[in-house]
Amino acid sequence: MVAWGLQVFDSLDSTNEEIRRQAEAGAAEGLAVLAKQQTAGRGRRGRAWDSPPGNLFLSLLLRPKASPAEAATLSFLTAVALLEALDLAAVPAKLTCKWPNDVLVNGAKIAGILLESRTGPDGALGWVTVGIGVNLAWHPSETPYPVTSLAAHGIGVTPEDFAQWLLARYGYWYGRWQAEGFAPVRAAWLARAQGLGQPVVVRLPDTELQGRFVALDDSGALLLELPDGRRQTVTAGDVFPVG
Ligand code: BTN
Repeated sequence: MVAWGLQVFDSLDSTNEEIRRQAEAGAAEGLAVLAKQQTAGRGRRGRAWDSPPGNLFLSLLLRPKASPAEAATLSFLTAVALLEALDLAAVPAKLTCKWPNDVLVNGAKIAGILLESRTGPDGALGWVTVGIGVNLAWHPSETPYPVTSLAAHGIGVTPEDFAQWLLARYGYWYGRWQAEGFAPVRAAWLARAQGLGQPVVVRLPDTELQGRFVALDDSGALLLELPDGRRQTVTAGDVFPVG
């Protein structure tokens, strides 16, 4: 079981950046960094992540004995741990996960996950930082997709309390992932996946695919059953329900 060592900062540029600094200086697996606000929070695809006080900004340092491809499945583990931490907050709404790594409350995004890693010149994994942002007190407006927060559901939780719930659920799932691999995490993720078994459209940068979302493969890629019955593996894209 990973032993978490939590450091709390009033303000940081980015908790992922602080983990990177400490990882490069030799920090051990289990370092967890919580910032009350971020001045340069990072989102996926080079986007900024608004980081005002009251929300959760947490990053974890992991040094798994795994290949970079295996470590990529940690994003699904993170979504499962987040769903279970949100269960502890007793959110009176439906909690689901959306491929590849969104966590939704009644279909609206409440959390973001950003994995960053360092591989050595031999291609071996050095470290992974798992960055997690949760809209506890505030959520942005004017986003291209629906977003929400715990406060919008009438729930008040401090970042410190939520971090403790999340670290506990993360520790449990990370232990299973180390001992048993991706399979149990994949099953837990699929049990709460939005759109499983349903017709979906996958938007790719220059095209889109329609089919039925039937499973995840061993690497976490989405398996789509096309109208002609063939199966297509999807490794990137945005998934939306059809109809
Ligand atoms: C996304 O775009 O959905 C991912 C957002 C990830 C934000 C978190 S907040 C804590 C950690 N530090 C960062 O700079 N980013 C991640």
